[in-house]
Amino acid sequence: MERFDPTEGSDSTVGTFTEGINYLDTPLNTSVWGEMRVGIAGVLSELPRGGAWLDIGAGDGRYTSFLLSRFEQVTAIDADRSALAKLDAVNNNICRERLNIFEYNVVNSLPFSEETFDGVLSTGLLHYFEEILLKEILLDVHRVLRPRGFLVFDLSTEVQRVQIEGNILMPRRGAVYTRDSAYALLESLGDIFKFSIKEQRVQSVPMLILGMPAKWSSLDLQVLGVARK
Ligand SMILES: C[S@@+](CC[C@H](N)C(=O)[O-])C[C@H]1O[C@@H](n2cnc3c(N)ncnc32)[C@H](O)[C@@H]1O
Repeated sequence: MERFDPTEGSDSTVGTFTEGINYLDTPLNTSVWGEMRVGIAGVLSELPRGGAWLDIGAGDGRYTSFLLSRFEQVTAIDADRSALAKLDAVNNNICRERLNIFEYNVVNSLPFSEETFDGVLSTGLLHYFEEILLKEILLDVHRVLRPRGFLVFDLSTEVQRVQIEGNILMPRRGAVYTRDSAYALLESLGDIFKFSIKEQRVQSVPMLILGMPAKWSSLDLQVLGVARK
């Protein structure tokens, strides 16, 4: 598998929701996205150790060391080169032979063959994609998962992005899911995934949105899917 090469040019940016920040200017010892979500870490903790996992939209590696602590091989892909450069720098010399870093726009079909992975993680990304595209992405994830492989992701619904001054940035970019539309989408994939869903209300969490300090509120679905094959 190809390794991230910071000297290479970037792929198409169509359909990417990158933040326009240089992650290497941010502290290396912490992710710009904060701590791991307890719910997502809890779901991952209950899954069998070992095997090969793919992290789609891995960002600056908020979950990377945790994934490496549980699974044998981890592939981190993201459309943002500087996020991957930070992920690479943070994990430099740690588990190098067990970590693949790969610049990729997930709007394109995943560059892996059928049944490559035991598990796929995606956090903080999938809510950006409109329903038709999100279904295509999840179908492709199903293709690269082994039978009874795991898909762990969060899907933010009812998102509000508020600038620190109080201006609402909604919707600004990307799709807008309501709780009902998100559940309907997951139900429509019921023949290829068995889903378990937990809900978490996220209230006024400070974060950078397009490089600007803002606050984020949402009702997040934390989803575990098991691939039916
Ligand atoms: C909110 S961040 C979440 C990062 C990480 N998953 C986490 O939870 O900390 C969303 C990430 O998705 C990446 N991204 C946006 N559009 C993408 C696309 N089309 N393909 C791959 N990655 C994308 C961004 O560059 C960013 O790193």
